[in-house]
Amino acid sequence: MSHTVSVSPHPSPTASSTAPGPVPKAELHLHIEGTLEPAQAFAFAARNGITLPYADEAELTAAYAFEDLQSFLDLYYALMAVLRTERDFFELADAYLARAAEQGVRHAEIFFDPQAHTCRGVPIGTVIEGLSRALAAGEERHGISTRLILCFLRDQSAESALQTLEEARPYLDRITAVGLDSAEVGHPPSKFREVFAAAEALGLRKVAHAGEEGPPAYIVEALDVLGVERIDHGLRCVEDPALVERLVRERMPLTLCPLSNVRLRAVDTLADHPLPGMLRAGLMATVNSDDPAYFGGYAGENFDAVRDALALGEEELRTLARNSFLAAFLDDDEERRARYLAEVESHTFG
Ligand code: HPA
Ligand code: ZN
Repeated sequence: MSHTVSVSPHPSPTASSTAPGPVPKAELHLHIEGTLEPAQAFAFAARNGITLPYADEAELTAAYAFEDLQSFLDLYYALMAVLRTERDFFELADAYLARAAEQGVRHAEIFFDPQAHTCRGVPIGTVIEGLSRALAAGEERHGISTRLILCFLRDQSAESALQTLEEARPYLDRITAVGLDSAEVGHPPSKFREVFAAAEALGLRKVAHAGEEGPPAYIVEALDVLGVERIDHGLRCVEDPALVERLVRERMPLTLCPLSNVRLRAVDTLADHPLPGMLRAGLMATVNSDDPAYFGGYAGENFDAVRDALALGEEELRTLARNSFLAAFLDDDEERRARYLAEVESHTFG
């Protein structure tokens, strides 16, 4: 055996840059408050003089056994008590971007829930200044382009949503779109007809959660009454073949969140998720993380989990990544979209 092997102490730059990394993707369904990790919650609580009703991180994590959307939302809103200062919101978003970048996220469109903060006496300006400062630095610090989406809480009144839009007016240069989230059943999209019309008149794009726990009819309302351009979740469209046909025809993006669906019991197990059939039907599905600190994974872990549990092949994964950029609000930067799409096409899966 006389092969000479030269071992260099560091991998050569070419070797490491050609090693297949995660597929490049856009994340389009991500609640920034849902990225609050247990360790961060305790750190923010300590510096803000807040005592959490959990002894330690392990005890807090043990509370993440959800039965449905509401049982999650109860904890999600309670833990937000630790978010008080502009610095908290900056660090929350910056930490998310750092993690997302490691998992191949190139572009992130990020939800926030202003009413969940203003109702605790935190001014909307504190929230938006902190988040938007982190997002504006996202490209330089983490190589991620970003958009910010203001969500209305659908279990609050239509008047409260209108007042929130009014409070956000000084900051609209930082905001791309409005969305609709929180407890779905009993709060149909039509309740928010007026505020979505007002948002459109202000030049904002529109999305809404629909068909997560709510019926397919809520998806139809979000389209016809609110005029949304993407449906967040949209999982229950599969119960209505005529609706599926329409969503395919209109190439309506659905921002699916597989690990969230398992944790909130929208599906029994990941192997039962309808994603493969949705792709075969021609739906414009995307894969996202929703509230990664609570549901067991960020964008990359969601991609890996559906690949493994649903035996998705390279072309299905490439389609999901391609869809994410096609569905992104990048109309003001088509050059960037084309660059991201080219990266998807040339990606080598490991
Ligand atoms: N659904 C509705 N509202 C939410 C969610 C969700 O999954 N996450 C945060 N707010
Ligand atoms: Zn969501």
